[in-house]
Amino acid sequence: MAEQGLSAQQRAYLEAMGIDVLVSREAAAPVAEVAVTPEPAAPITEATVTAEATLPAPEPAAADTELRWQVLRQAVARCTQCRLHETRTQSVFGVGPRDARLMVIGEAPGAEEDRTGEPFVGRAGHMLDAMLRAIGCDRDTVFIANTIKCRPPGNRDPRVDEVTACNDYLEQQLTAVAPDVVIAVGRIAAQRLLQVDMPLGRMRGKTHQLPDRDVPLVVTYHPAYLLREPAQKARAWEDLKRVRALLESAS
Ligand code: URA
Repeated sequence: MAEQGLSAQQRAYLEAMGIDVLVSREAAAPVAEVAVTPEPAAPITEATVTAEATLPAPEPAAADTELRWQVLRQAVARCTQCRLHETRTQSVFGVGPRDARLMVIGEAPGAEEDRTGEPFVGRAGHMLDAMLRAIGCDRDTVFIANTIKCRPPGNRDPRVDEVTACNDYLEQQLTAVAPDVVIAVGRIAAQRLLQVDMPLGRMRGKTHQLPDRDVPLVVTYHPAYLLREPAQKARAWEDLKRVRALLESAS
């Protein structure tokens, strides 16, 4: 679904991508249906002219960013680049403000996420919410996404070709959100973001930089792991304090 107020070029781009461009009912209705008694025109005064002259000009850069975001969302929704599309209920794009300062990257949607279309809504999601609250972040202020956008059957680990197929989606999300800090929760997300093949224990406990981006990355335990191993919460808390300090220093 695309929005109103698009230029002809933007419409052509969306249509070429196979994305429906919505036409508002008002715009589509025959003239007779929308004809109403015209309001008497307000007299044009100096104040009107000044007010119109000071209206903010449309921001083409912001409109383009929004358009690219919608195109990306549609591409993820329709993706058939790996076999996971055959077994998913729906893909899970991610949730949160596009200008979030903090981005959390998990592994892959589970059963609940596949059903609802939102990441981290099951038990692990509640634990993630608690982790975020511990550093003063409300879930609604954070952009939450996964390394891969479709559920692997039986919650198995994502395969290399599946991670590769989703690579560009995640890169585009990182570019669009441009967060101040990224948290990778769990080994799969950390290995993908750092492009390394290391155990989680060797990746956490320090501040990394996302390859090719000037963005700090903190690695911590996956919330589902913390549910199984609550004794590791103390270490996770160390990681979260690191995130909080990075957010404070970036503000
Ligand atoms: N685990 C993840 O890594 N992501 C989710 O969205 C849910 C559970």
